[in-house]
Amino acid sequence: MSDPVSSDATPGFSADLPTAPPDVSSSTPIDTGVFNNRMRGLGLGLSRKHFPSLDHGGHPFFGAPNLAKENPEDKILIDEASFEDTALRLKLTYQQILNKFGSLYDFFSVDSSVATDFKIHEKRKLYKWSDGNDGYPPHLNIIPPGDETKFDDIFHASYSFYFQLGEMLAGVFPSIITLISGAPWSLSSNTLSGLQQINANLVDSKKGIYTEANIGLREDWYTDEQFAQQHLTGPNPTTITLASENWINSFKATAEAQGKEEFIKAINKASEGSIYIQDYSYFRAAAAVSPTADLSSDKTLRFGKRYTGASVALFVLDNDGKLHPLAIVIDYKEDDIKKEDNYFVKTTAGPMSNSVTIFNQRTSASDSTATEAEDWPWRYAKTCIQVCDWHRHEVGIHLVHTHLVEEAVIVGAERSFKNDHIVYQLLNPHWLKTLSLNQAARETLVPKIILNIAGMDKIHLSNYLKTEYYTFHWEDLYIPNDLERRGFPISKLNDDKFRNYPYSRNMVAMWYSIRRFVEAMLTEWYACEKTTVKDDEQVQNWVKEMKDDMGARLTSFPDITTLDQLVDAVTMCIHIASPQHTAVNYLQEYYQVFVPNKPSCLAHPLPKSLEELEKLKEADIIKTLPLDKGNVWLMSAYIPHLLSMLVTEEQNIKTYARTELQYRKDIQDKAGAKAAQTFLDDLEKLQVEFQKNSASMNVETAPPGLPGTSQYTVMDPRKMAVSILI
Ligand SMILES: [Fe+2]
Repeated sequence: MSDPVSSDATPGFSADLPTAPPDVSSSTPIDTGVFNNRMRGLGLGLSRKHFPSLDHGGHPFFGAPNLAKENPEDKILIDEASFEDTALRLKLTYQQILNKFGSLYDFFSVDSSVATDFKIHEKRKLYKWSDGNDGYPPHLNIIPPGDETKFDDIFHASYSFYFQLGEMLAGVFPSIITLISGAPWSLSSNTLSGLQQINANLVDSKKGIYTEANIGLREDWYTDEQFAQQHLTGPNPTTITLASENWINSFKATAEAQGKEEFIKAINKASEGSIYIQDYSYFRAAAAVSPTADLSSDKTLRFGKRYTGASVALFVLDNDGKLHPLAIVIDYKEDDIKKEDNYFVKTTAGPMSNSVTIFNQRTSASDSTATEAEDWPWRYAKTCIQVCDWHRHEVGIHLVHTHLVEEAVIVGAERSFKNDHIVYQLLNPHWLKTLSLNQAARETLVPKIILNIAGMDKIHLSNYLKTEYYTFHWEDLYIPNDLERRGFPISKLNDDKFRNYPYSRNMVAMWYSIRRFVEAMLTEWYACEKTTVKDDEQVQNWVKEMKDDMGARLTSFPDITTLDQLVDAVTMCIHIASPQHTAVNYLQEYYQVFVPNKPSCLAHPLPKSLEELEKLKEADIIKTLPLDKGNVWLMSAYIPHLLSMLVTEEQNIKTYARTELQYRKDIQDKAGAKAAQTFLDDLEKLQVEFQKNSASMNVETAPPGLPGTSQYTVMDPRKMAVSILI
């Protein structure tokens, strides 16, 4: 059959018609029906395979993927596929899975697509806590207990389809990724600059997932400057902390043992309050691994065996704002990390003789950069830090401290507040999509993606995850408290010293704007209700739900007896859902799609001695990147791309404030309208303020070719999501 477009014989068509440009955009629509046909062809359709004897009274069923128990290894359904094909399958499958969980929740009228108006006793039946025995902290248990193993009717059996979704997601990965199309590495030129070139070519041609700029486009991506700056303006700007005396003295003692005089001079020269730390030394304690055992994953055919250290990086922050890395412990193996309340603390100050510690040859940000590119042992050590920060950021800060803590807030509040209570009215707009998204994460993303690219095995990852939850300190993490505690005094944030930490300046301003709005709304409500916070049974129930052993088990949640305490707690809930999640979520693409910058794991064990570390060359770094297991690279690059999608206008914080204003006007709530108007005005001002904070940085992080100086734009209110929606 002739092609009608090029056929002169076909009326209405001319042979001169221009040909369509090559299909290069990842946003090119895909026909769902055809895609589903392909998935079925690969054996990746939902089926009755788990309960074939449905008509005969049921069949043993293993239930949902569970981090606390052993699940059989997933079947491999695809022998060989290209990077591009696999990425496309992963993208569409995960989007479909999110829709599927969204539908389930909508069906149950949890995060319903139409307004619900249930009474508290009804909500208590709908919003039930899990028992905390599935490897995750307490969360919403949407499927009624007992129902998940009933298969005697199609309604109950349908739950089982959800339990297959994880298996479906795991099924998209082949045994081998071929290098035919779109792969970010090659068989012939795997050097770090070669990988950078391939990345640039992919972004240039907008191939596959490479549709946006990433740090690999910067010639200087690997430098001390770019490495350090990521701990202030990267995806995890939340954990860098002033180093304790024990840490500083321990590094000094180790430097003395190694004869590193320059390091000791640099430390002694630094002004007080200038030595900062990124401390992952607690990983073993948090994951319940012995102080000398290796941290590694299980070995599987498609994802190999993977490793991480428990690294520590020491930095100096100059008065002009430049953060500079001075030393790195690649894998901390001393037995002196003790848990004190909610914190892991280093308790001794001697040399770190059981750990491999390397000191930067460049002891100041102003030292010559001539040797930086080929200082392979130091570059390897920086990679170890990035791998640790990947774990702490993705699992600890992003998943637990935003997604899962906010879920606890939602379940606790739904079980405690009537729908017309002001706290409920203030909080529920910030819960959009969060519950179904988290369920999808627990059943598919975490067990089938995160676990397959992390450097820990299932039990240890689950332990680590739970530790991050149970040590979450509610009041210490209120932004003003958090910044002071980590060595960023609020009164000095406008000093040049903190110019490269716009996260802190932005977040303080945002915190107080939200707080002002919350305070105005609560003050008016309690005045009208003629009651006090202390006597408000609904608030007291919420506190109980949050702290209780049968509830969220967040023991640091404050007792709330004053209006001020309630204002802070409500501000915190909104902070976590909106500005904080935005700050830790939407920069993943820029910093993580180019995998050498921030790999999720190391593909080989870490050096056991300084001599071994000092012998490393470029080829050893290449060897330790997850190159031979293309699936690991693909997921490490792809998931950040998927999770960084732009926030639509109807889901940003400004639209929330504008709509709240309109609603308060409609119901003639003058005080509420005034508060919402002030909040909206604040957001307008913050938009400008945040640009100024970004422009005052003196380290460039923006992708090359970006006009202007605006670099840290992630918190722009126009891009700030109203809730945890991805
Ligand atoms: Fe997220």
